[in-house]
Amino acid sequence: MKILVVGSGGREHALAWKLAQSERVQMVYVAPGNGGTARDPRLVNVDITDPAALADFVVAEHIALTLVGPEGPLAAGIVNLFRARGLKIFGPTREAAQLESSKDFAKAFMQRHGIPTAKYQTFSDAAQAHAYIDANGAPIVIKADGLAAGKGVVVAMSLEEAHGAVDHMLSDNAFGDAGARIVIEEFLAGEEASFIVMCDGKHILPMATSQDHKRLKDHDEGPNTGGMGAYSPAPIVTPAMHARVMREIINPTVQGMAKDGIVFTGFLYAGLMIDSEGNPRTLEFNCRMGDPETQPIMARLKSDYLTVLEHACNGTLDAVELEWDRRTAVGVVMAASGYPDSPRKGDLIDGIPAETPECVTFHAGTSVVGGNLQTNGGRVLCVVGLGDSVKMAQKQAYEGVEKIRFDGAQFRRDIGWRGIK
Ligand code: AMP
Ligand code: GLY
Repeated sequence: MKILVVGSGGREHALAWKLAQSERVQMVYVAPGNGGTARDPRLVNVDITDPAALADFVVAEHIALTLVGPEGPLAAGIVNLFRARGLKIFGPTREAAQLESSKDFAKAFMQRHGIPTAKYQTFSDAAQAHAYIDANGAPIVIKADGLAAGKGVVVAMSLEEAHGAVDHMLSDNAFGDAGARIVIEEFLAGEEASFIVMCDGKHILPMATSQDHKRLKDHDEGPNTGGMGAYSPAPIVTPAMHARVMREIINPTVQGMAKDGIVFTGFLYAGLMIDSEGNPRTLEFNCRMGDPETQPIMARLKSDYLTVLEHACNGTLDAVELEWDRRTAVGVVMAASGYPDSPRKGDLIDGIPAETPECVTFHAGTSVVGGNLQTNGGRVLCVVGLGDSVKMAQKQAYEGVEKIRFDGAQFRRDIGWRGIK
């Protein structure tokens, strides 16, 4: 069977790597892929990004199933387009993807359906936004309504910073249309967790839990990034917390969408903030897997993922029980010089260790140029270590990281720290 994975990041490398392990998979295409998927003999890069051209490719190559990694093509309606042409694809429709592509949509949805989240208001008028900030005080959180590649959120610790964010988004038009409306919401304190499930329109299948590390530097300092590392499972999501999140957030979300006339298929990712009393609230929804969460999650998945995806496309996820490696997986992102503001491209990468049962390296911003592997984006690699404890998994991951060299490499030395207590 031939499979297509859409995207080019570490998430897509991990998904394609996992799918290629399935005995029934003959070939995994990755569009457009990266240097790692180019080098893996079981994967083939396809230099197409236009959804209609991808559908033509799927038809021509008799590809059985397509899996979409990033939010861009989902928000643009790739699932609608593939389905209209009778092609099997796993992901949300354009309408369902609004849970991620519009913060205002997601907040109004949560309010309407009683799903716990921060109190908020939406603005397109700067004067009204400034007045709301003055009335509510800091800390306060300002979010561009639309997709902004992870850069559209400002957690303002001071009034000055909050007013500045409003000016930046509404007056300076920093995010174009994506920032023409902004959501201003209450600051929530606590510990974050990534809660990701698969939905087939009727049934919900939870993936393993995980925790991302959004800040660039150790001890959660420095600017926000797309994610500098993740580990799975996340101990904060105890079995009781898991049940509560399913009951209060995930089930009401899928049912609420259905009530609103939108069948949710695809990955549903609730970014949670769990307060000191153990109450989970939703910070945001994504309608895709997380990056880098996917890398440790896929490293722990023992079940055949093709079978899971077939059930997901056929509406029979209730027949699936996922089997997980009992070990912890810690994924450390190595980012390029200048990330996140202006990542440098073209640095030669050397020393990536061969895969072992304890360590695997997924590529993101890499490319092969003239036979050499070089950096080609902000987050370059994610080195995943597996071990019987967070500490042991960390040791495996960092042994891998130490072997890899490229100029200006940035990585955190504390990925998984919240899991060591
Ligand atoms: P988002 O893209 O909405 O997940 O926001 C990015 C990051 O900003 C989150 O992972 C949190 O660390 C932080 N954040 C977002 N919303 C809030 C909030 N209401 N209170 C505190 N931190 C937040
Ligand atoms: N790692 C956070 C995200 O994928 O949105």
